[in-house]
Amino acid sequence: MISKNIQDLMKQMTIEEKIGQLLQLSADFFQGDNVAITGPLKEAHLGEAALYSAGSVLGISGAKTVRQVQNNYLKHSRLGIPLLFMADVVHGYKTIFPIPLALGASFDPQVMKTASTIAAKESAAGGIHITFAPMVDLVRDPRWGRVMESTSEDPYLNSVMAKAAVNGFQGTLPLDQEHIAACVKHFAAYGAPEAGREYNTVDISEWRFREQYLPAYAAAIEAQALLVMTSFNTLFGVPATVNQHLMRDILRNELQFHGVLISDWDAIGEIIHHGVAGDLQHAADLALKAGVDIDMMSFAYAKYLTKAAVLDTQIEQLINESAQRILILKEQLGLFNDPYRGLSDKRETEVTLTSKNLAAAQAAAEQSMVLLKNNHHTLPLNSATAISLVGPAADTGDILGSWSWQGDPEKTETIAAALAKQFSNLTVTPGTQYHHLQLSKLDDAVNASRQQEAIIAVLGLPASESGEATSVTDIKLPTEQLMLLRRLAKLNKPLITIVITGRPLDLTEVDALSDAVLLAWFPGSRGGAAIANVLSGKVDPSGRLPMTFPRNVGQVPIYYNAYNTGRPIAGTPADDENKYLSKYIDSANSPLYPFGFGLSYGDFTISDWTLSPQSVSPDQPLMVQATIHNAGNHAGTTVVQLYTHQTIGETVQPVKQLQAFKKISLAADQTQTITLTVPYDQLSTIHADLHRATDQGNYTAMLGFDSAHTASQPFTVVTHQ
Ligand code: BGC
Repeated sequence: MISKNIQDLMKQMTIEEKIGQLLQLSADFFQGDNVAITGPLKEAHLGEAALYSAGSVLGISGAKTVRQVQNNYLKHSRLGIPLLFMADVVHGYKTIFPIPLALGASFDPQVMKTASTIAAKESAAGGIHITFAPMVDLVRDPRWGRVMESTSEDPYLNSVMAKAAVNGFQGTLPLDQEHIAACVKHFAAYGAPEAGREYNTVDISEWRFREQYLPAYAAAIEAQALLVMTSFNTLFGVPATVNQHLMRDILRNELQFHGVLISDWDAIGEIIHHGVAGDLQHAADLALKAGVDIDMMSFAYAKYLTKAAVLDTQIEQLINESAQRILILKEQLGLFNDPYRGLSDKRETEVTLTSKNLAAAQAAAEQSMVLLKNNHHTLPLNSATAISLVGPAADTGDILGSWSWQGDPEKTETIAAALAKQFSNLTVTPGTQYHHLQLSKLDDAVNASRQQEAIIAVLGLPASESGEATSVTDIKLPTEQLMLLRRLAKLNKPLITIVITGRPLDLTEVDALSDAVLLAWFPGSRGGAAIANVLSGKVDPSGRLPMTFPRNVGQVPIYYNAYNTGRPIAGTPADDENKYLSKYIDSANSPLYPFGFGLSYGDFTISDWTLSPQSVSPDQPLMVQATIHNAGNHAGTTVVQLYTHQTIGETVQPVKQLQAFKKISLAADQTQTITLTVPYDQLSTIHADLHRATDQGNYTAMLGFDSAHTASQPFTVVTHQ
């Protein structure tokens, strides 16, 4: 039902005003002196009328500023239609949570939901209406810098997290003033650029797309995300932004998405470079016909649609549909009742960077850290241990990660400062910069370490080296840092390496040289305190890998849910004798650390597990019961993971597919029985004709604490009882 207000507005609006709603401008159009006559407007060849009819702006924030801009805008708007304020609020606003890939590693949707709820509350108080998040692109190639922004290589984990993020940002619809609208992106398959090179071609079959990439977007839409953003890449040979099959058939018709579709930044203009549109007018026509409602920063709609609408009633009709969808969104945000959404300086101060928000960010960091190695119980460390802290990331606030534009690294507690609170005998000697090394400084770090009982090396990269436009061809740590680690390893003292990263790295040498390896990702505002708590054993590092860590870059893309090929390796010595198998001659097929992997200070076992029923049907889900025991003498947290495999299918099937997981904490020697449930529909796969269905037949259930070490039991599926 379209409200009377919107119906009336639609009647009163001129075609230019409707097209204005479809235009999104960046912050610099609205801020600064004389923008109306000089600067960006002039550069974009747009008149002042475009500015005050533009439907939305991106990147303006702060209660005071947003009030001013909205107020000024409304003074110039003939019909008083408020401006929408959008921004990338990805893993926090002022309180920065760990990067999304780390939130994926938490294997706890509640952690993602809390992070998104707090991000919404802080940013709503800062005047933001819509976030360009969650990014749910499935990622399997660590060379691509934006893997940090996704939650996983796995369709199921990605879907669970996508839903949690949307629920956190939006709360329960209708939106209240503490929540913001979510824009799921990038539709679609932006996470699969060839060779991991940013903005490169994506070419996957529609079968594979539907099987693995589509589910997370579908989950976000099912959770009622109010917007979708297009992606820069091509899909099925046509740039996604103008791909009618993708946007009309799949997004609008199949997924029943009725919200606002926004282009990515200048993605409509880029259609010319793709060679699919001859000029910007052509690009505007293609994008509108594909159903793109908002043109972010290519100005194609603003420049060309008025003329096109006069000549073609179909264009006019499409403009009406898009303008109406945008007005509905403004209504859903409550902007027609209060264009300021309750903004006040007081509220902004009260809800931002509160101790409660910071505590939640710390808990999220603790839950997302992955202990990759811990020989001879090197960790946890006794607080009296004399520690030498070294490495370029040890004493910097640059631990927030990319897409944290409102976070302040300068004010962020460093790892060194946080450790000093728990370990009183601590020396800090960086030894090297990220990429630049002075031998005398290296000597200083080695000499300092010689005096202490244990060494903690905080290695990694600055935030600027992950995120958008940071593709790499080498995923090892910089040589300078490895040189430092090699020297330290020779001291024969317990050597703990903490890795600050936004992507899976080749940690083969780091693993070999270190006694313990803790993957801390970019842990956010309270990352230092979280690391200190993990090192001292106050909390268990309970993250598990959401992406496979390869042995070397040549294995990439590598992911646990691969297909078997016609010549699989069996993992037996006979593999070595047979050259003609699907394998490398210079590397194992297996990764360094598998998906789902992570150690605990506890020592967990699955003592027995049962399937009931052994025959699954439409009204009888698969139920797995298992007894989990912490046999260690330390409390701990683990993630029990259930995978399945369909023995025979019409199409090839992944060797295993994650279907359910549960994170549980147990005291030393404690036992708990857990149940994991997989609904019948979730066992469905995409068939050769692209339809989704669950097949009758034999299946295997696999249970374990990571994807590579599981125990199996058979079960069957019947489609009719
Ligand atoms: C990115 C989007 C982002 C947009 C606006 C683009 O470059 O691809 O993810 O939302 O900029 O900041």
